[in-house]
Amino acid sequence: MPRLAHHLTQQKVDIELTTLIGVVADCCADIAALLRHGPMSGILGLAGAENIQGEDQKKLDVISNDMLKEALEKSGLVKGIASEEEDNCVGCSPDGKFLVLFDPLDGSSNIDINSLVGTIFSIYAAPDKTDIGDDDFLRPGNEQVAAGYVLYGPSVMMALTTGQGTQFYMLEQSKGEFLLFDDNVQIPKDTKEFAINASNQRHWAEPMQAYIADLLKGETGPRDKNFNMRWVAAMVGDVHRVLSRGGIFTYPWDKKNPNKAGKLRLMYEANPMGFLVEQAGGKAFTDAIRILDVEPDNIHQRVPVILGSANEVDVCLGYHA
Ligand code: AHG
Ligand code: MN
Ligand code: MN
Repeated sequence: MPRLAHHLTQQKVDIELTTLIGVVADCCADIAALLRHGPMSGILGLAGAENIQGEDQKKLDVISNDMLKEALEKSGLVKGIASEEEDNCVGCSPDGKFLVLFDPLDGSSNIDINSLVGTIFSIYAAPDKTDIGDDDFLRPGNEQVAAGYVLYGPSVMMALTTGQGTQFYMLEQSKGEFLLFDDNVQIPKDTKEFAINASNQRHWAEPMQAYIADLLKGETGPRDKNFNMRWVAAMVGDVHRVLSRGGIFTYPWDKKNPNKAGKLRLMYEANPMGFLVEQAGGKAFTDAIRILDVEPDNIHQRVPVILGSANEVDVCLGYHA
């Protein structure tokens, strides 16, 4: 199985981008090592603060954020970073070629129950200027040069795209290296599986209510087939399932909190996952347009997310038309 750097070189990925992806991968291998020791490494529980989005930070949110920030700052390749756990962007190396955005720890509510969590990242070419601010990060997902996630599961895996399809790597624990094991991830066009937090049902808009109601009717309803439901409560886990065997994942717009157009963050979650899903032959939409075409207006903005098997996403969008 080819090593990560070797495979990226074969794909003729820019040498500095290859190095940068390696820096992220190594840092995630370190986070994985901490997670493996669970309660023994003192990483569980609350950090005692809230992030800018008003969410309680877990110790591991803060630890993984600091680890990534330090690794990226030290690399010399990154002009600035933006993170779910930072109020504003952080400037790094003035002549760095890249901007990196990340959700250092996705699925925080799973940490204390020893369940799936991951790290999601998104990379852009940096603008040609020395002083950067939040506005320099406000570019649509279709400008990403790479995106991926590392899933800290029973085995540690990375999904990665540099715009040449989506690949899966797995961490070979003894060497601390990511090895390629699927160089062309393909999401089946059709599916019988969906993922949604159904406890929010009463808050959804009418089209999503109607779509899910029809899925639940199974073979006695208009879809003529029975569906199964899965919910990991970590986008990284749900999207990994979709990339691995198909499905539709949605965190729709809801009226639970009128200030939030859905729960998931455009820049740290929806864009990188949208890039991975499209490169694997799937679709990734808000309820109106491609996620990757959304023009961001705030680094922490939230968007509705509907992604996965192409034909099923089309059916869902049909209810919104
Ligand atoms: P985070 O842990 O980075 O705040 O993200 C959690 C997100 C996402 O991973 C997941 O799909 C969703 O929140 C789960 O939300 P519910 O609490 O509605 O299950
Ligand atoms: Mn998240
Ligand atoms: Mn997070």
